[in-house]
Amino acid sequence: MCGIVGYIGPKPALEPLLTGLGRLEYRGYDSAGVALVTERGLSISRSVGPVGKLRRRVEPSALGDDARATCGIAHTRWATHGAPSERNAHPHTDATGRIALVHNGIIENHRSIRQYLAKQGVTFVSETDTEALAQLIGFLYEDGAGTGPDALLVAVCGALREVQGTFGIAVACVDTPGRLIAARRGSPLLVGIGDGEHLIASDGAAIVEHTSRVVYLHDNEVVTVDGGGLGASTIDAVPLRKKVERLELSLEQIERGGYPHYMLKEIHEQPDALRNTLRGRIDPAGAAVNLGGLERVDCSPADLRRVVIAGCGTAWHAAMVGKYLIEEIARVPTDVEYSSELRYRNAIVEDGTVALFISQSGETADTIAAMNEMRAKGAAVLGVVNVVGSTLARETQAGVYLHAGPEIGVASTKAFTAQVAVLALISVRLGRRRHLSAERCAELLQGLRSSPRAIESVLRLDGAIRELVSRHIDRQNWLYLGRGVNFPVALEGALKLKELSYIHAEGMPAAEMKHGPLALIDRGMPVVFVAPRDRTTDKVIANIEEVRSRGGHVIAIATEGDHELASAADEAVFVPPVLPALSPLVTTVPLQLIAYHAAVLRGHDVDRPRNLAKSVTVE
Ligand code: G6P
Repeated sequence: MCGIVGYIGPKPALEPLLTGLGRLEYRGYDSAGVALVTERGLSISRSVGPVGKLRRRVEPSALGDDARATCGIAHTRWATHGAPSERNAHPHTDATGRIALVHNGIIENHRSIRQYLAKQGVTFVSETDTEALAQLIGFLYEDGAGTGPDALLVAVCGALREVQGTFGIAVACVDTPGRLIAARRGSPLLVGIGDGEHLIASDGAAIVEHTSRVVYLHDNEVVTVDGGGLGASTIDAVPLRKKVERLELSLEQIERGGYPHYMLKEIHEQPDALRNTLRGRIDPAGAAVNLGGLERVDCSPADLRRVVIAGCGTAWHAAMVGKYLIEEIARVPTDVEYSSELRYRNAIVEDGTVALFISQSGETADTIAAMNEMRAKGAAVLGVVNVVGSTLARETQAGVYLHAGPEIGVASTKAFTAQVAVLALISVRLGRRRHLSAERCAELLQGLRSSPRAIESVLRLDGAIRELVSRHIDRQNWLYLGRGVNFPVALEGALKLKELSYIHAEGMPAAEMKHGPLALIDRGMPVVFVAPRDRTTDKVIANIEEVRSRGGHVIAIATEGDHELASAADEAVFVPPVLPALSPLVTTVPLQLIAYHAAVLRGHDVDRPRNLAKSVTVE
């Protein structure tokens, strides 16, 4: 995980580095550091905690002349090897202290590199995998792996050829103060090209205020940036010509816009995000779906035998909703897989298998690896991705963008509803070419079109939901139950609550409760039933009785006007009536608000929950 930024240009590097780090904090925030290349050597500062603490440490008054350095690299960390501490914070250096490195990813063979270097007399100062790479680069550099102005590049490439694992790196060296080197394998990295300046970053958010012209690095590519421009090659020294692309992101999109937290902003953005997701994709006559990104798929609907959907975390929950939708609407057998399991399982891929990979960031390591595995086995691989130009978006054969706008809060919200909407569009598109009638197609598309307004009406319950949560805020265990397409919504509600408020929560199919979890129910335990009116409502009411008769406190997410269900529960949050198949689009929203308010009421950092990161680019 982790975020990296580099700057080289005419201005002091410190400010663009710190601002960029701040925008990458979603990738990790347990420690941060910066290295500036100054006339007297490297000036390195590190601190434990978020970027704000580093900023206080590197006030220009503390750094003196070093603050004027125009070349530097910086890092915000999500610890994988070694505890969050100043010693383990990046940048790491080689033994001579001439070379500094920031790294995102994992060096899997760091132990053997350490052992080898230790035998050569190198002493390590941190517990990190990254230091092994920094020391190896320094060792090869000092060993004269190359000479002349490209000596460092030769050493970097030599070291990267030895490395197993993933990396996005930026390297600075006191001997070449006007030059930075960046490389990637498996971890996202781009270079922004500004006016006489270059910025290196894990994500466009870090550089958007400087430039919208970017070069994306692909795996095993290395670039050098200096006053002369940008040079690129593979790590095997094959020269490359890189295309300059446009960064599809604006500064306004990534700022908080008056909300106390990004998460609350993103919850409230859902109606507009969904309008953007749907825009141009529903035929004006209302009976067809246009998904241009899918036109290139080899597998025609007639040949399609099976869909596999994979993702992690919230994206996996969206995938589960997708299974219900695709099987019901398009009548295609659909399996849902955790990306982390799919990549290592010897999955069976038959002719006519289409694999859909769902990811907000498009950078989740397990999802990318699972996609590569399925492609190698002959499946058609498609992406459902939010971040334009991300690895998954570029490396799938075809796909559908969410267009939900940047999501900064670590807990995913608007990406989930957009993922569900895209899966509904895909189901209708597939269904229409198979069994779906024009009437049912039009009904579903009309339902999708009216979903943003339905969400708006749920958002008006924000204050009431806060009060509801405050009545149960001392409870340490919650259950979330749902049936059918609302079973994954129950899973998502429980995930949101636990990841933000650190309250233990479980989600499960409502009927499964009596096969064990019912034993947990004690007086006053909050049990959320996600129960919009559908053909299972009678069964759900019976499940509600089972919980209440054991003292549980039932909070029902019910359809407006469903007094029968509401009176069976202790309290109800009403959502507008929508087609049952599309109900996750509205039933998820009160659960997001419950989790948000629980975290705020407990005094937690909503946008940066402990131990987590937005984009999990490590295994
Ligand atoms: C992390 C985030 C989750 C997200 C998951 C998958 O765990 O904290 O919010 O659902 O990764 O991320 P992706 O970018 O692939 O959707």
